[in-house]
Amino acid sequence: MDKPKVVLGVSGGIAAYKACELLRRLTESGHDVRVVPTESSLHFVGAATWSALSGHPVSTEVWDDVHEVPHVRIGQGADLVVVAPATADMLAKAAHGLADDLLTNTLLTARCPVVFAPAMHTEMWEHSATQENVATLRRRGAVVIEPAVGRLTGVDTGKGRLPDPGEIFEVCRRVLARGPVEPDLAGRHVVISAGGTREPLDPVRYLGNRSSGKQGYALARTAVARGARVTLVEANTGLPDPAGADVLHAGTAVQLREAVLKAAADADVVVMAAAVADFRPAEYATGKIKKKDGQEPAPIRLVRNPDILAEVAGERARPEQIVVGFAAETDNVLANGREKLRRKGCDLLVVNEVGERRTFGSEENEAVVLAADGGETQVPYGPKEALADTVWDLVSSRLG
Ligand code: CTP
Repeated sequence: MDKPKVVLGVSGGIAAYKACELLRRLTESGHDVRVVPTESSLHFVGAATWSALSGHPVSTEVWDDVHEVPHVRIGQGADLVVVAPATADMLAKAAHGLADDLLTNTLLTARCPVVFAPAMHTEMWEHSATQENVATLRRRGAVVIEPAVGRLTGVDTGKGRLPDPGEIFEVCRRVLARGPVEPDLAGRHVVISAGGTREPLDPVRYLGNRSSGKQGYALARTAVARGARVTLVEANTGLPDPAGADVLHAGTAVQLREAVLKAAADADVVVMAAAVADFRPAEYATGKIKKKDGQEPAPIRLVRNPDILAEVAGERARPEQIVVGFAAETDNVLANGREKLRRKGCDLLVVNEVGERRTFGSEENEAVVLAADGGETQVPYGPKEALADTVWDLVSSRLG
């Protein structure tokens, strides 16, 4: 089979060096990558590096190998174009259809999905000119990944960092897997909770659970690849931030509730994939609990935590909001799932069977998605991304 053809556009920002890692990930996973840098990006990474790493000749302008008509052919033949980093200037050119070098020509001739991974200073990103260009590109079907927050060039910090190249790669992989279709969650805000809450007993101990957060992260990545604005509320996962998602951190169920309710205020979709502790210790010991010779340990008294899913579903911040829950069951999976769907009042409930070996921490998952309108969708054992895409398909058809 032919390798998928990817064009990696590189524009002139300091983050260009991170695109080397993206290129490596793409080539090593079986993609045929043609790098098209802009002239100014060569100040940061030279053509020899791109040529050696991609195994293809590299040119910035349309006048090399004119007999091959590269300004048309490269774009026409691509299965995916990803521009990383995309500078403010590149976004402006792409939004306005300028074509003054090989990359901008390629963007005009490409009919495949296009991903932009912007990187620039916060002021440039927030400028209304840039924001309007981004909105234009998204309206036309491009996936523009929100920049990450963190250290920028020099001493500045803020929004504008190029996300981790491994995470940009994941977005590219998802976009390629979906093929040449419009990003159906464009313009939608989705809130996803992931991981497992920890309920502290004392400064060194907590009650927790075995949720890895991987299913929630798969939901976040796939939603970014389908064009959504994603807020990910994570609890104790330790996983790298998915590219393009705004990541909020929560430790306990109470903190997770606060973050989810706040983010849900303007959300189109809320997905509660986190494993939330149903109970927390009634008392928190400010000093470490010590064992005492000859004495039985004191029992731990528990109190109920709020049920976040039931609250979000019961008091929808917007009437048309779609609420998705997860249920981990060890037996009577379907019957328990139906009952839980009713009790929680959500629109969709993803029910997994869990046990010693299954689901927790693994890369794969198997589930049935129950719908409040009676629908039942079986998702065979497979990658967590496949289950995530099924959830988004069901959500997307309900968003209208
Ligand atoms: N959930 C929640 N708040 C809680 C407990 C659970 O929002 N305090 C959400 C989870 O994120 C998940 C769903 O509810 O989406 C189902 O969680 P589960 O633990 O399976 O359900 P429970 O209500 O705890 O039911 P039971 O313990 O009886 O199985």
